[in-house]
Amino acid sequence: MVNYQFPENFWWGSAASGPQTEGKFEGDGKGQNVMDYWYTIEPEKFFNNVGPDNASRFYQTYKEDIQLMKETGHNSYRHSIQWSRLIQNGVGEVNQVAVDYYNDLINEMIANDIEPFMNLYHFDMPMPFQEKGGWLNRETVDAYVNYAKTCFELFGDRVKKWFTHNEPIVPVEAGYLYQFHYPNEINLKHAIQVGYHEMLASAMAVKVYHELNLDGQIGIILNLTPSYPRDENNPEDVKAAVIADAMFNRSFLDPSVKGTFPTELVDIIKELDMMPEIKDGDLDIIQNNTIDLLGINYYQPRRVKAKETPINHEHGPMPEDYFDNYEMPGRKMNPHRGWEIYEKGIYDILTNVRENYGNIPCFISENGMGVEGEEKFRNAEGIIEDDYRIEFVSEHLKYVHQAIQEGTNCLGYHMWTCMDNWSWTNAYKNRYGFISVNLDKNWERSIKNSGRWFKQVSDNNGF
Ligand code: NOJ
Repeated sequence: MVNYQFPENFWWGSAASGPQTEGKFEGDGKGQNVMDYWYTIEPEKFFNNVGPDNASRFYQTYKEDIQLMKETGHNSYRHSIQWSRLIQNGVGEVNQVAVDYYNDLINEMIANDIEPFMNLYHFDMPMPFQEKGGWLNRETVDAYVNYAKTCFELFGDRVKKWFTHNEPIVPVEAGYLYQFHYPNEINLKHAIQVGYHEMLASAMAVKVYHELNLDGQIGIILNLTPSYPRDENNPEDVKAAVIADAMFNRSFLDPSVKGTFPTELVDIIKELDMMPEIKDGDLDIIQNNTIDLLGINYYQPRRVKAKETPINHEHGPMPEDYFDNYEMPGRKMNPHRGWEIYEKGIYDILTNVRENYGNIPCFISENGMGVEGEEKFRNAEGIIEDDYRIEFVSEHLKYVHQAIQEGTNCLGYHMWTCMDNWSWTNAYKNRYGFISVNLDKNWERSIKNSGRWFKQVSDNNGF
């Protein structure tokens, strides 16, 4: 007897990316990407100096890992093709070793009844393009679209769910505003151009995909952070929340689903005289090539209030000139990541998608809990008792269920992530998986309590 029954054929699974799982960054013809490069010049920026060459070895162990996916109830799994693995320099000759690898991986998933979801870009700019400015440079857009087309032609007969980007706002924020990722700039004008080119590239890839008439769907994966005002009755707080939402959510959500950019955002950009370079015809491409399927990553909300702290213009204008972030007293926190846990946020996003985005088919493409020092929860049988993760996932799933009951077209739930993996500058600091990876024991895998629980949820299509 289950209390929360999900619709038939619901997608149960998890998500990961090529750069975070495959390891062995050079070899078998793989070219260098921006993360690989950054690690060679500033290894100290990575937790415990562990870089992308020490990802979780999926490249070597994917067959065994797929068996573990089955044991944890996966009927679908998201991976990403590494652009610099498939095409060493980002443009030109296709690497046959990579084609064979991705073919084997896709075939192996399908043979095990796990539907492959493929993402094309997960923060992994090929270095020859990064050297020319990465997403700042229009040439990158054309090269990306060629790469996307190559992927559709090679694998589109079997991969039916494609995604143009994962969290396209991350390269914008991390690379050009808040200095989390290379090139570590603080430059709003560049940030805007990067975001615009990513969006244009996405629409162009959607166009190419649809023109190929393949039997499948294409979408984008966005991390959405519902924006809540400190005081709903204070119009200045509400206005601040609307602007933060336009900047951090609607900047990609609106063009992806509706083909238009939010006017609140465009007005600010015009006022700052920071309009990106837009070529004739670009806006028509964005307008006419919207997505079929929306992936939603949800971790935490954003709480804002009207601007109170003085604006610091040392680095030029910043998004925070328009609002202050606000720490709501008594909010529930993940002690490990400094992120708020607000389960109802997932329901608010799904409701917003139903009411304001034409109820487009969507799914939760990431949700999860990063925890430090999970080894201490390993019991005598060697199993990590991560019951906090079971609670985290089930509390979110209850809200997903409610949104579906009310009519949201939500087709699945993928957790981040399947196996503990390498997470950018945090490396292995926070563990997210259903399955632990023991770095001291030759990357040995073992299913956590949450993985066993998830299998039951998937088998029962509910809990
Ligand atoms: C979002 C990203 O897609 C992924 O790369 C990252 O590791 C997780 N969230 C956890 O922070």
